[in-house]
Amino acid sequence: MAERPYVLLSVATSVDGHIDDTSPQRLLLSNAEDFDRVDQVRAESDAILIGGNTLRSDNPRLLVNSEKRRADRVAVGKSEYPLKVTITASGDLGRDLKFWHFGDQKVVYTTDGAVTKLREELAGLADVVSTGSTVDFEAVLDDLGRRGVKRLMVEGGGQIHTQFLSQNLADEVHLAIAPLLVGQAGAPRFIHPAEYPGGSASRMKLLDATTIGDVVLLRYAPKQRTA
Ligand SMILES: NC(=O)c1ccc[n+]([C@@H]2O[C@H](COP(=O)([O-])OP(=O)(O)OC[C@H]3O[C@@H](n4cnc5c(N)ncnc54)[C@H](OP(=O)(O)O)[C@@H]3O)[C@@H](O)[C@H]2O)c1
Repeated sequence: MAERPYVLLSVATSVDGHIDDTSPQRLLLSNAEDFDRVDQVRAESDAILIGGNTLRSDNPRLLVNSEKRRADRVAVGKSEYPLKVTITASGDLGRDLKFWHFGDQKVVYTTDGAVTKLREELAGLADVVSTGSTVDFEAVLDDLGRRGVKRLMVEGGGQIHTQFLSQNLADEVHLAIAPLLVGQAGAPRFIHPAEYPGGSASRMKLLDATTIGDVVLLRYAPKQRTA
């Protein structure tokens, strides 16, 4: 059986823990230097995953933007861009979204209820896989492992990060904290209420803390917890 990928969660939050505000435009939390760091992490990944809501609301292309980084990938025999991955239960991901029209391969994990509709909608654009009556994150990792993905970068949003962390499936977290206070009720959060491994007193191992201009980057190893 193929090994599951190493899972790295990447997020930028405000000081009050929000990953966006309530306006229709995406809130830019990182600074230019930090966005460039994220581009490097993307370039080092075999696949990048976002949730269906982020795909609809931000409509991202989700690419490695640096030409040099893409050339470096190709020089070592990798595809120019990492595999792009999304998860949806509703299957409401139209074929006009930018995600499908940039980069290399795409794969969508969904449920038996939405798989037929999605295969029709995304014919020729993405591989659509059902993991049964719900989307099982362990099955997603097993399937990505079989596709040769050794390193998976998860870029959110909050629902997705919450499930990877609560199911103890994340090996590393990159938390970039921007000096902003969103302060809006209902603004999306990095993490939602859930039962996390070890409970509220369990401490994740801090791997590193660095400043990137006015942003602070914290790197955690969530599987290495102490009581
Ligand atoms: N600051 C950052 O670093 C950052 C990064 C990414 C996103 N964001 C922000 O995050 C917000 C979106 O976050 P979010 O928490 O609302 O959404 P999300 O985590 O991006 O996506 C949630 C969606 O993913 C699908 N999904 C999640 N778990 C599933 C499961 N177990 N089975 C089947 N489908 C599942 C569902 O899609 P369907 O609805 O299609 O069924 C669900 O509605 C946006 O405001 C975006 O701008 C910020």
